[in-house]
Amino acid sequence: PASTTQVTPGGLAVGGLSLAEIAERFDTPAYVLDEGEVRERCRTYRDAFPDADVLYAAKAFLSRAMVRWVDEEGLGLDVCSAGELELAVTAGFPPDRIVLHGNAKSPRDLEAALRLGVGRIVIDSPSEIARIAAAVGPGGRQKVMVRVVPGVAAGGHDKIRTGTDDQKFGLSLTDGGAQHAITRVLGQSQLELTGLHCHIGSQISDVKPYLVALRRMVGLMARVRDAHGVVLAELDMGGGHGIAYQPGEPVLDLTTLARRMRAELIEGCAAAGLTVPRLVVEPGRAVVGPAGVALYRVLAVKHTGEKVFVAVDGGMSDNPRPALYGVRYAPRLIGRASTAGRRTATVVGRHCEAGDILAADVELPGDIHPGDLLATPVAGAYQLSMASGYNLVGRPAVISVHEGSARMLVRRETLEDFRNRDIGG
Ligand code: LLP
Repeated sequence: PASTTQVTPGGLAVGGLSLAEIAERFDTPAYVLDEGEVRERCRTYRDAFPDADVLYAAKAFLSRAMVRWVDEEGLGLDVCSAGELELAVTAGFPPDRIVLHGNAKSPRDLEAALRLGVGRIVIDSPSEIARIAAAVGPGGRQKVMVRVVPGVAAGGHDKIRTGTDDQKFGLSLTDGGAQHAITRVLGQSQLELTGLHCHIGSQISDVKPYLVALRRMVGLMARVRDAHGVVLAELDMGGGHGIAYQPGEPVLDLTTLARRMRAELIEGCAAAGLTVPRLVVEPGRAVVGPAGVALYRVLAVKHTGEKVFVAVDGGMSDNPRPALYGVRYAPRLIGRASTAGRRTATVVGRHCEAGDILAADVELPGDIHPGDLLATPVAGAYQLSMASGYNLVGRPAVISVHEGSARMLVRRETLEDFRNRDIGG
């Protein structure tokens, strides 16, 4: 769907409300989420994948309201810790529609998964098989999937490529690790293997790697049938669907992806004489990324011999993505019109290091001054969820906007929060 973030004469508006008004009312820094756009994106997935299960990857952004929206729009949930799981279930999400991931699940993760009755646990390493079986106990039975590494290189950055054997996730298709794990899982009476999973990477803008991975996964399913007489019911192809952070960047078209995955699945299964499994996808970024805007206030402007620095009241503790992946954002001035000419400036945060950059060398009006407001679109995914406590700056608030009214979903972290956690003094 088209973003509902509108450019107006006074700046940017989200869900019919001016961002400048939201900043005045709720203060900055803040993340503003457009509920209508999140819901619309969920519906776009449901429409594009009518006969698949769509699980929202909670790691992109999680709050109790988000959990409710995703539930109401008919999606399932992918979580990767007891924390995400408990938050989702206590917010009312049906546990049987939740899948638990993780390459190193803690005893707490497994305890929570079994206690809350999570729908699937995705096995990521050989040592997990006996651990999960033992945790389930005699007479019990837990549905599981096995995460496979299909040997496909894809993803927007080295740090988010997970389809090949040189990274930590999953069990290798190439060296037989996946086949071996599947055999062992099938030998455990406490585990019911419902299907296979893969997630080849994130911020992928090309359909092709998904199709290659899908073919290989279908091939593995056929070998499981041949070796064990077991027909697996589900094929989870993970997420990773790319979005544009700047106008003009490539976007993975969901309708095309869905159509071509479906065709590849049917063709591959027909060739192998295999019953077509139910397809599962796990988008995170594409559901919530474009529905969020980050709001900052300018605290200082500095001209050095080389550059102009615009320093704001947030930084790498609420958005580490430029520092980690070199992602380029497009912040803009809001709240007032400027007739000044544009000049190149670097938007930095307030943290104690030179790498604390939110947007390097972007074009901004030349008269930006302390007190001005900046808004960064496409800020809904992997920003607040990756926020840190660095310099005790405190994590921003989350505001949601829907049908012309705004409310706070998550409050800003305060000095009192820091004091309360620190119990040793
Ligand atoms: N399924 C699994 C098993 C995953 O590990 C992930 C993301 C997803 C689904 C959802 O991927 P998405 O559709 O959101 O791309 N922090 C990085 C992204 C890390 C993605 C980790 N796994 C970033 O800011 O770009």
